[in-house]
Amino acid sequence: MKIAVTGGLGFIGSHTVVELIAKGFEVIVIDNLSNASEGVLDGIKAITGIKPIFEKIDLREKEAVVSFFKKHHDLKGVIHFAASKAVGESVENPLLYYENNIGTLVYLLQQLQQMPEASFIFSSSCTVYGQAVSMPITEDAAVQPAMSPYGNTKQIGEEIIRDVANISHIKAILLRYFNPVGAHPSAEIGELPLGVPQNLVPFITQTAAGLRKELSVYGSDYPTSDGTCVRDYIHVVDLAKAHVIALERLINNQHAEKVETFNLGTGTGSTVLEVIHAFEKVSGKKLPYKLVDKRPGDVIEAYADTQKANDVLGWKTGFSLEDAMRDAWRWERKIRAIEN
Ligand code: WQD
Repeated sequence: MKIAVTGGLGFIGSHTVVELIAKGFEVIVIDNLSNASEGVLDGIKAITGIKPIFEKIDLREKEAVVSFFKKHHDLKGVIHFAASKAVGESVENPLLYYENNIGTLVYLLQQLQQMPEASFIFSSSCTVYGQAVSMPITEDAAVQPAMSPYGNTKQIGEEIIRDVANISHIKAILLRYFNPVGAHPSAEIGELPLGVPQNLVPFITQTAAGLRKELSVYGSDYPTSDGTCVRDYIHVVDLAKAHVIALERLINNQHAEKVETFNLGTGTGSTVLEVIHAFEKVSGKKLPYKLVDKRPGDVIEAYADTQKANDVLGWKTGFSLEDAMRDAWRWERKIRAIEN
């Protein structure tokens, strides 16, 4: 069964490609290499023994999208990761985000609509909930006005998919990720942030690797157990596996609605200091950090109610926060050629 994975060389995309191959899917990877390298294909091959077909396509080029679907007319589904994801950059350059995240989605759906089989998995984000009123967050919690153009592209993306599914045979699952972290336990693939990481875990591992002097912990007087923000950090391999289950659900017509939404998190909230301590425990390294002012736009806490994903998808996380930190650190050491 042939599946296209857009952004298939990125962090979550590459891990999902591995899990798809493990389940016997024939994967066609689409990526424009704007935030990934072709070398990721070798990592995928090292884990699975199979190098997927790679199409270097920029989804902003409509003609390229049209030709891709003509060439691969026997596709069974599309998992769509390709998108820009830096919150700050989206504030600086909103039109880039609307073009990259919305324009490309429209082109993909236009072509998918012409296909006999039209299963679509969309990468959404817990950012759609903003600061939810109660924890843990269920899928029917209110969607809040977006805090950034990036967040807005995820909300608009979900709405576009609902509108199209309403009038076509497209069926879709919207996966709202909490905070994806870690790396493949083999250390063959992982996260490769460009420049200075904005996200917590890559900043931690780069600091421990000596690339950054110290970590700034943004805010220490939040109303949480230790004053730092609470998030739901989910191992990327657990996240990847949920995509395969969601895709199979659509392909096998087991879905209950044309568009379904699932939270993907662990169900457990961790503070920034707890993440640091988990890292220190598994790495045996002391992490230099200082407490600084809050980062504008951060919500106080966000963690998932995973009951719907557990019950309906039959999916459960298998990795702990410590596992995720161990794997993130193993990956960082590998790419920096650090011995221990
Ligand atoms: C986690 C916690 C920070 C860096 C963002 C996007 C979201 C998403 C994932 C994207 C927060 C704190 C961080 C640092 C710190 N989607 N922190 N020092 O903000 O929960 O979510 O990334 O693809 O849409 O908003 O993740 O990893 O940036 O931050 O103290 O140097 O770590 O304040 O509490 P966030 P994050």
